[in-house]
Amino acid sequence: MKSAKGKRPSESAVETRYLIMPHQANPQGTAFGGVIVAWIDMVAAMAAQRHCGKEVVTAGIDSLAFKEPIRIGDHVALKATVNYVSRSSMEVGVQVVREDPYTGQKVMATTAFLTFVALDENKKPTPAPPVVPETDDEKQRYENAKLRVQARKELLKKMR
Ligand SMILES: CC(C)(COP(=O)(O)OP(=O)(O)OC[C@H]1O[C@@H](n2cnc3c(N)ncnc32)[C@H](O)[C@@H]1OP(=O)(O)O)[C@@H](O)C(=O)NCCC(=O)NCCS
Repeated sequence: MKSAKGKRPSESAVETRYLIMPHQANPQGTAFGGVIVAWIDMVAAMAAQRHCGKEVVTAGIDSLAFKEPIRIGDHVALKATVNYVSRSSMEVGVQVVREDPYTGQKVMATTAFLTFVALDENKKPTPAPPVVPETDDEKQRYENAKLRVQARKELLKKMR
């Protein structure tokens, strides 16, 4: 059910799975980072679109951490969740889990935070509905994201 003042993270979250094929790997037989980043950008954009119901653009990707390699033949499960909305910008967190197709063993392989901006018909930034966190985990993500958003804004201000 849609909240009157905004949307819950679970209403827009996107999950998908891929199988790593040989053409997506580097000479060491592990997934090429750019392929994983493209998938991350895609699922995160879909979550942001579902949250705001508008066209979105990627404004930034940060805190991208390749924690564990993913090998040819591994399954990867990606989950994107909208953590926080400032005004027009939305922070989306993505987790990439590597799964052994035979044992089912799961390992957190890559994590990232992305910022998407909602656009109006004139391709200008426009307000997105607020996030309404409900579970303890969603509330924690919201509070952490709020701190990161403030830090990004301060950094952007200093750089301009
Ligand atoms: C992102 C973009 C729309 C921002 O436009 P802008 O004229 O700078 O607009 P504003 O300064 O009003 O910023 C709009 C929001 O984006 C946020 N923002 C802008 N640049 C950002 C960045 N690099 N990282 C994180 N947030 C950013 C601002 O903090 C602001 O957030 P708020 O409305 O929630 O307070 C514009 O820079 C753009 O179109 N970039 C190209 C996007 C693109 O082509 N992406 C595809 C990948 S190549």
